[in-house]
Amino acid sequence: VAEPGWVDVERYLTDVVVRPDPAHKRALASAVEAGMPAIEVAPNAGKLLRMLVQMSGARRVLEIGTLAGFSSMWMAQGLPDDGRLVTCEFLQKHADVARANLDAAGVGHKVDIRVGAALDTLPTLAGQESFDFVFIDADKENDSNYLDWAIRLGRPGTVIVVDNVIWDGAILEPERDQVNAPGIIKMLDMMGQDPRLDATAIQTVGSKGWDGFAIARVR
Ligand code: DHB
Ligand code: MG
Repeated sequence: VAEPGWVDVERYLTDVVVRPDPAHKRALASAVEAGMPAIEVAPNAGKLLRMLVQMSGARRVLEIGTLAGFSSMWMAQGLPDDGRLVTCEFLQKHADVARANLDAAGVGHKVDIRVGAALDTLPTLAGQESFDFVFIDADKENDSNYLDWAIRLGRPGTVIVVDNVIWDGAILEPERDQVNAPGIIKMLDMMGQDPRLDATAIQTVGSKGWDGFAIARVR
């Protein structure tokens, strides 16, 4: 649960430093209008994703979990005009909202939305050019499976970011959330132990409560 001070500070940082553009604000409004859950990344995290895409020089980005395309929009903005974001979304109605938002933001031509279970879509992406950057933000039960696919579809140097790795501290008390916490814990164990990865994890507070993200680099 977000405490008031965290949210006020986040709003201040968003207004003063992050400065989202009108397309981001329209995308948030469209998600509310469509009755979608308000669980998109906060603007300061979205901008971090955009900057990480730029700083890593990524040309091909993979996203698992599109929702209304809010994080997709930030990342697509960080790509060069001939760059590509492939984003996997389970629900057609979410993909439709995301498509409209990404087109309205002028980045639709860089984005390929694949509808269906990501574990069905990901194998179809093998054999293509590898991904330079991967953002995992879907059903937490499959976090470790998605991480494994991210490594397989990447190359040495690929950057992998995973959202929601603290889950209000439930990673230390998994009995509080027997659906999501075990999936997150399994993924974090893999981040720390898989010889293919180098990784760290960061806690955050703000409008999304007490949460955080993990970031890994494929060796
Ligand atoms: C929630 C938050 C997220 O960032 C997400 O990807 C899924 C769920 C939540 O707060 O429920
Ligand atoms: Mg998330």
